[in-house]
Amino acid sequence: MKRGKINFSKAIVGGMFVVFVFILTSCSSVKTAHPEPSLKEAFKNDFLIGAALNESQYCESNSLEAAIVKEQFNSISPENVLKWEKIHPEPGEYDFALADCYVNFGVKNHMFIIGHNLVWHSQTPGWVFRDDNGNYIDRDTLLKRMREHIFTVVGRYKGKIGGWDVVNEALNEDGTLRNSSWRKIIGDDYIEKAFEFAHQADPKAELYYNDFGLEKAPKRAGAIALVKKLRAEGIPITGVGLQGHYALDWPDDADLDETISAFEKLGVKVMITELDVNVLPSPKRRSLDAEISDRYQMQPGMNPYTNGLPEAVQQQLAERYADFFSVFLKHRASISRVTLWGVTDGNSWLNDYPIRGRTSYPLLFDRDGKPKPAFFSVLKTAEMNSATKLTNDKSVSAR
Ligand code: GLA
Repeated sequence: MKRGKINFSKAIVGGMFVVFVFILTSCSSVKTAHPEPSLKEAFKNDFLIGAALNESQYCESNSLEAAIVKEQFNSISPENVLKWEKIHPEPGEYDFALADCYVNFGVKNHMFIIGHNLVWHSQTPGWVFRDDNGNYIDRDTLLKRMREHIFTVVGRYKGKIGGWDVVNEALNEDGTLRNSSWRKIIGDDYIEKAFEFAHQADPKAELYYNDFGLEKAPKRAGAIALVKKLRAEGIPITGVGLQGHYALDWPDDADLDETISAFEKLGVKVMITELDVNVLPSPKRRSLDAEISDRYQMQPGMNPYTNGLPEAVQQQLAERYADFFSVFLKHRASISRVTLWGVTDGNSWLNDYPIRGRTSYPLLFDRDGKPKPAFFSVLKTAEMNSATKLTNDKSVSAR
């Protein structure tokens, strides 16, 4: 009885402490023009917080956005510059100028630098798979090309790029392997080969499998089977990237939670690699996902917010971000990084996908680089979580 009473009063004190920290932090973050703390400070005990950058940001011609990146993020991903078509556009011809700029920006600012990506069915030039007569090459020739590309690119940034998306989007929605040119020519083991080459080129780099839509059960099952297979074969896979191209109505928290738990159980790191939350209507009949080849014509009603986002939707977006980050924090032991796919709304690919020329609002900073309500709700989620942790720690140490 006595013990019960003591715990009860501790719980009241703990609860008051949470409310106090909550009020204090919400007042201070709303008032400051320069929000404190930054995202990277707020999550410093949880996971890295990253952004995908374009050329104007990492080469710093856009000084405002470069400054936001330095202030807020401690990890960077390249939106396009390390993709095969950019860095290796022609046989025997590499273009490292912009990629060097990207990597130097990260090194200079002490950031965890991501390489995205090595093997993908998209943004890979047609010549990679064909001979001079336009015919498909054979398995050995393609493996040689893959190895040469991986050794050249990974080797150049060895010790600087900390983690690579080795294979991007190898799965279909039903969990089977996508029949890409890689698979058609090499066979299913093109995935294993890509990881082996990347590991040989930089044995210290983290190596990831990255995909969208793993929150849906059939595709997730395919990814789980793939990770298990790679592990059983001794292939050095460090983690799985959930791209995180989300929407106001997808995925629900339970599916996201279940998905992260499933990979967590396999003992691989989990990261959210391309987070954005779409507020625009979807023209797709099937549920929203990030299949890059899905393109639609503009239709009436499909671009509703050209003059700004209505307050109610702005709030809905803020709530969704808070929900997602609550789930990420719950899994902070296995989540190593959360990366947003862009810095400001103006940068987002969702202005042109799946319909060209729309005005989208999926990120934490608006087109002028100002933090949005979603930014503050993410910060508040971090603050509430650390207040709860503090209270829990206090009650544990008082026992
Ligand atoms: C996929 C790719 C990214 C990027 C986005 C859309 O998710 O992994 O590199 O192309 O699509 O911008």
